[in-house]
Amino acid sequence: MDAKDSIAPPADGPADPRAVAPALLDWYDRHRRDLPWRARPGEMPDPYRVWLSEVMLQQTTVATVRPRFTAWVQRWPTFADLAAADEADVMAAWAGLGYYARARNLLAAARVIAANHNGRLPETEVVLRRLPGFGAYTAAAVAAIAFGERAVVVDANVERVVTRLFAISTPLPNARPAIRAATNTITPNARAGDFAQAMMDLGQAVCTVRRPQCLLCPLVAHCAAHARGEPERYPAKKPKPDRPHRHGTIFWLTREGANGSEVLLVRRPDRGLLGGMRALPTGPWEQDPPGLAGAPADTCWRALNTQVSHGFTHFTLDLALVTGEAHGTVQIGEWWPVASLGEAGLPTVFAKAARAVMGGVEAG
Ligand code: ADE
Repeated sequence: MDAKDSIAPPADGPADPRAVAPALLDWYDRHRRDLPWRARPGEMPDPYRVWLSEVMLQQTTVATVRPRFTAWVQRWPTFADLAAADEADVMAAWAGLGYYARARNLLAAARVIAANHNGRLPETEVVLRRLPGFGAYTAAAVAAIAFGERAVVVDANVERVVTRLFAISTPLPNARPAIRAATNTITPNARAGDFAQAMMDLGQAVCTVRRPQCLLCPLVAHCAAHARGEPERYPAKKPKPDRPHRHGTIFWLTREGANGSEVLLVRRPDRGLLGGMRALPTGPWEQDPPGLAGAPADTCWRALNTQVSHGFTHFTLDLALVTGEAHGTVQIGEWWPVASLGEAGLPTVFAKAARAVMGGVEAG
């Protein structure tokens, strides 16, 4: 047993994990997708085609891969043909599939296989791992699908099916060891390759990200998430990392008008965030606090001991607040009575700032 297999499977989940594979394989025998790299029932899989398809499918959809796979195997039908190919031709044949390291690794592996392995793939997960481009997923998938080894195959579809079957609520990626352990408990000794592909087909067609078709699912009786009535909650995802922060300064510039205190408002430029809106003057919004850059007047500015934060779609804006009194004329903006600032139609971020300046400290 590998160290990575020593993690206990989750406590929740199918009452009898060994009953999962027969139910799934029975479904697969009736609903399997006919794909050009798959052996038909009774045929032996072609390891070259299995390997090529698994590499192509890693970041690319089945629909995109289908025609590209067919063209590729017509041009280079065996490891030996591929090993003899020009790198430039291989890279050109990969064009549009993205993640070009995959194509370079395909060629490198084909050459190692031709030179050191008699033109045949090694048949175990452990030895496959040593070849260029064979990560944990590819080695397990090829060992299971091409050679029938009982390997634990986990891709994104399997992650979804398994987190639901076992109601694994730890967010990804931290849930991965538990998912592996759980998948291990349901992987059968026989037909491990069909089992892996059946999990993928089930994830693609039935156990979908949104609105899973539980009524059609051959595993519904085994599914802890279905029993809890909330399959879409799984897999849980870590909250997105914080948005980046930008910084600015709000200038609260006042003067005494005929009817009391007035504050300077400006209109924001038409283009850009809050375009055309009435606003308190701010300097530039930058990665670092810009201090008094862009101040609307030359006066003695006093910093308030608070700031206003506001979340926009792509960043959080943290605004320092400074106050000052106008002496003489100011070239920009309009003077607005502080007492009726509520009628100025200020966007939330500036309304928050005004409340913070006027005493109700609600910044943050
Ligand atoms: N995605 C990755 N490998 C696959 C396979 N063998 N069948 C269907 N979808 C897949």
